[in-house]
Amino acid sequence: MPITSKTVACAIIGDPIYHSLSPDMHNAAFQHLDLDYVYLAFRVQKENLSETISGFKALNFCGFNVTIPYKEECIKYLDEVDETALKIGAVNCVVNEDGIFKGYNTDGVGALRAVTEGGFELDGKRIAILGAGGAARAIVFTFAKFAGKIIVLNRTFQRAKRLVEDILKTVKIPIIAKKLSYEDLKAVILEAELLVNTTSVGMYPHTEETIVPQELLHERLTVFDIVYNPPETRLLREAKSVGLRAIDGIEMLVYQGAEAFEKWTDKKAPIEIMKKTVLKSLKKE
Ligand code: ATR
Repeated sequence: MPITSKTVACAIIGDPIYHSLSPDMHNAAFQHLDLDYVYLAFRVQKENLSETISGFKALNFCGFNVTIPYKEECIKYLDEVDETALKIGAVNCVVNEDGIFKGYNTDGVGALRAVTEGGFELDGKRIAILGAGGAARAIVFTFAKFAGKIIVLNRTFQRAKRLVEDILKTVKIPIIAKKLSYEDLKAVILEAELLVNTTSVGMYPHTEETIVPQELLHERLTVFDIVYNPPETRLLREAKSVGLRAIDGIEMLVYQGAEAFEKWTDKKAPIEIMKKTVLKSLKKE
């Protein structure tokens, strides 16, 4: 579909941004459904964030994604924020609803769908989360609706503590913060049924890094790594090699994108096309 005077625009903003696969993924989906939409990527500096968002509004963009490092920062420039995104404290998707820019968080829903479609049932389960950044917030908040207990391990303890305190304001299950140390990691993983890596450890170009020594991976464990480049991180490779169920970050990337796509277009997202496009783009890199 060529770009015309009627083409509807959407975008992703962040810094850095040139590694993002969202433009490939969304544009392939628009083309597949013959929608007159275009998705662009913009690297935005912090001092220009407010003007960028006002500019999108002036140009009547149908919405945009927000990525690192603006998922929290952007909130103050939006007209409205959905209740869940507000509780999570981060927005990754903005929708133009009749001229009102409303923020949502689709990371948690994307992760939930990745895990459940990966064959893992969250109900009452014990979950170990590595990391306490924006992605961890969305995942802990969303999984806490189903899980029995969640332990958040982070290199910087204060950050894990803050995350847990915030989430416990609205959630009833036990959620505990710990500093990431070998001893705690060992004890927490031993009693966990799902291990989620939300840190960037293992991401390209440091693909041989992992937080979890292989000897801690036991047979009752499912491993979910939100890193998508490479799709098979060292953590996932080692989990598979001892026969564990392993869920990769491509699933979450695609499902959080699908959720945004559906909000912008009111059409069902072509999941398989989006997945195929992301895998193809990763191979090209
Ligand atoms: P995102 O929004 O994608 O979650 P982020 O907010 O930058 O990204 O969070 C990155 C997470 O990865 C943090 O939990 C970070 O730990 P700190 O809070 O201690 O910085 C974690 N992380 C990054 N590099 C790490 C490393 N080498 N070892 C352990 N944790 C790491």
